[in-house]
Amino acid sequence: MIRGAIRVEDLVKVYKTKDTEVVALRGLSVEIGKGQIVSFMGPSGSGKTTLLNIVGGLDEPTAGRVYVDGVDITRMRGREIERYRLEKVGFIFQLFNLIPTLTAYENVELPLILGGKTSDEREARVGEILEQLGIAERASHFPDELSGGEKQRVAVGCALANDPSMILADEPTGELDTISAEKVMDIFLELTRQYEKTVLVATHDPRVARRTELIYLMEDGRIKSEYTPTEVPPMGRVEGIEVAVSDTEQSYVEWVKQRIQQLGEEARSLQERLKRDEIDADTFTQKYLEIREATNAMRSELVRLGIHVES
Ligand SMILES: Nc1ncnc2c1ncn2[C@@H]1O[C@H](COP(=O)(O)OP(=O)(O)O)[C@@H](O)[C@H]1O
Ligand SMILES: [Mg+2]
Repeated sequence: MIRGAIRVEDLVKVYKTKDTEVVALRGLSVEIGKGQIVSFMGPSGSGKTTLLNIVGGLDEPTAGRVYVDGVDITRMRGREIERYRLEKVGFIFQLFNLIPTLTAYENVELPLILGGKTSDEREARVGEILEQLGIAERASHFPDELSGGEKQRVAVGCALANDPSMILADEPTGELDTISAEKVMDIFLELTRQYEKTVLVATHDPRVARRTELIYLMEDGRIKSEYTPTEVPPMGRVEGIEVAVSDTEQSYVEWVKQRIQQLGEEARSLQERLKRDEIDADTFTQKYLEIREATNAMRSELVRLGIHVES
């Protein structure tokens, strides 16, 4: 298997307390290729954090397997799993995982110290990372003295420090407003793409998920379906699941309108392919009905939002 590839098989996680059982994952399977940037989007409690923690070797599943580069990490214990976490995984958490008593420089240096790098290697690496993240002049500042966006860049720096093959980001923009969140996502994804990192993002926010290549919609400890970015509305509901608070309904309306237009184009190109004999009648009918159904759903969404629709 290629470096950075992940295969999750029938993952189950049951949290047992004295008199209750919570099933956080119910047989979740997914395969993520090297260098792929995917997100797990779903409401609070759908199992996103549990999944990332197990893939990152921070938690053990009740059942199921996780193969990273062909090796089953759920069988690793002690020093072995510690090494896996340190060498293969970079974490970015919602509550910026920065140590308040260390400067930006020292925060990025810490994983390198843990990784056993020499001081010369550390100096070169930290300098390079802070430079790339555009925060070199903030090197000697403490987290308290940094803006939200700068703090998040330092957190990205910590995750990239040991050059892991995989980055796990749990609600990476959780504390930021929309504009900083999108900026941070752009920087983060540009870097991870440049270094060919495999990236798993957990988020409840479709605006964040839409920045990734593939979106897995999570519900109740399972993957319900998968989407490409343009298929996911920036807010509102996906398959009846509320994915984010709608702060402005306007952009959602715009998205629905765009989606209707896009579906219209898909229908036209389908007709042309039929004419050119590129697809058979059965395929055409099946696809055409799917498009029509999706279009109708989008139209009723507009009606629900009180927008006049021409038929
Ligand atoms: N340590 C724990 N003990 C008991 N229940 C937990 C624990 N961690 C998570 N859960 C439960 O598991 C479910 C999934 O949680 P989580 O993975 O955090 O979801 P998400 O990140 O999507 O919000 C929730 O019902 C949550 O309450
Ligand atoms: Mg979570």
